[in-house]
Amino acid sequence: MLSKKVDLEKMDKDQQVQSSTYGTRYFARDVPKYELPEEGMPSRAAYQLIHDELNLDGNPSLNLATFVTTWMEPEARKLIDENLHKNFIDQDEYPKTAEIQDRVVNMLSRLFNAPKEAESVGTSTLGSSEAIMLGLLAHKWSWKKRRQAAGKPYDKPNIVMGIDVHTVWEKFARYFDVEPRIIPMANDRFTITAGEVAGHLDENTICVGGVVGTTFTGQVDPIKDINDLLLEVKEKKGWDIPMHVDAASGGFIAPFAYPELEWDFRLERVKSINVSGHKFGLVYPGVGWLVFRDKPDLPEDLIFHINYLGGEMPSYTLNFSKGSSMMLAQYYNLLRLGKKGYQDIVSNMLGNADYLADLILQGERFELLGAAKSLPVLAFKLKEQKGYTVFDVSEKLREKGWIVPAYTLPRNADDIAVLRVVVKENFSREMAEDLAGDASDSFKELEEVVKKEAAPATRGKKENLIC
Ligand SMILES: Cc1ncc(COP(=O)(O)O)c(C=O)c1O
Repeated sequence: MLSKKVDLEKMDKDQQVQSSTYGTRYFARDVPKYELPEEGMPSRAAYQLIHDELNLDGNPSLNLATFVTTWMEPEARKLIDENLHKNFIDQDEYPKTAEIQDRVVNMLSRLFNAPKEAESVGTSTLGSSEAIMLGLLAHKWSWKKRRQAAGKPYDKPNIVMGIDVHTVWEKFARYFDVEPRIIPMANDRFTITAGEVAGHLDENTICVGGVVGTTFTGQVDPIKDINDLLLEVKEKKGWDIPMHVDAASGGFIAPFAYPELEWDFRLERVKSINVSGHKFGLVYPGVGWLVFRDKPDLPEDLIFHINYLGGEMPSYTLNFSKGSSMMLAQYYNLLRLGKKGYQDIVSNMLGNADYLADLILQGERFELLGAAKSLPVLAFKLKEQKGYTVFDVSEKLREKGWIVPAYTLPRNADDIAVLRVVVKENFSREMAEDLAGDASDSFKELEEVVKKEAAPATRGKKENLIC
């Protein structure tokens, strides 16, 4: 979201201000919305004003659009609150906070099966977007170094990915001047295949992207097949092409739900992985992770050693200051839950997603898009065209309080429109029943409208009668 300056002269006075609602109890004057007020107000008044306005936001517990955590335990919130005033970059001042990041990176590199002898390195980030930018930048840098060493040109880097990637991949390509080679979807395929990847590679490919849990359908790209392809390409053509796995959503699901699925550092070509701590890592928004398989996978030139906060600190981030709380909350979850705790929660979410899918499919109006070895994410399309769309269903559900997004799939599957539900930890079976009931009512209401619209003559007569 990009905000822009409004033209106050073109606005009515009423639109420029927030009017007093509590009279003299809190504030009796209008409060400007777009200009810094000349004077402040009592803290209780400021709190009440903002609190009331935010009541118009959706209810996060009914926000089935977001992958991001909407509930944490009170003890986690306490820890978050206690550490809000610690700038994460001040590592010399807060050495324990820094040490905790080291521990989490260690835990994740082991969870992602880094080889025993590898010296994995990694960092916390603001989310997967920052982690992906940093991961891909490292691969671009390593490619450039290899080309320079071989005396070859390095002005035409490209990156190969499916259109099933998140926007941040294309953002990386544009911001960092890399040609994006994007594999489209097909009408019956919403991930990529190794065969498609093969046709897009060349000596200028800095990296291939694979997704464990796509934003569109929650499915998993065939990471092992692509790894095998890249091994073959290296052997036959000498192109040393690494893979970055975007496990933003799947990184905290696959290790617990599908431990036998090979998608991580067990595969030789997988050199870096990102995961969003704030998605199925079960932390509130503001934490992601980037882990490199081994130290040489992050070029030394990209690491900045800063000393002006006291001590010598290696840093690989896009930003400087940031909060510490969410990173600490990640550590809280890892200790609090352990492998068994994550396994139980993941299995519960997958069970609840299946339960909801069964209820919704009973209505016979929806069809589920691909499910095997995926996330607790359901993408439904309408089975038949009956005069309304998934966008109408989404709107009807919104009227009933649910936030369920509708969208069309990307290129070559863009004639398919879906509704997506992310089943998170706090989505219960009772909620599944209520949602399925409201979906069924929505259908009936929409079918009623379609019926009425199909019979204008009758409607006209009725209206005349009323007149
Ligand atoms: C597959 C995938 N990658 C990357 C991202 C971006 O993650 P973040 O919101 O943590 O920056 C998302 C967000 O939904 C995602 O689904």
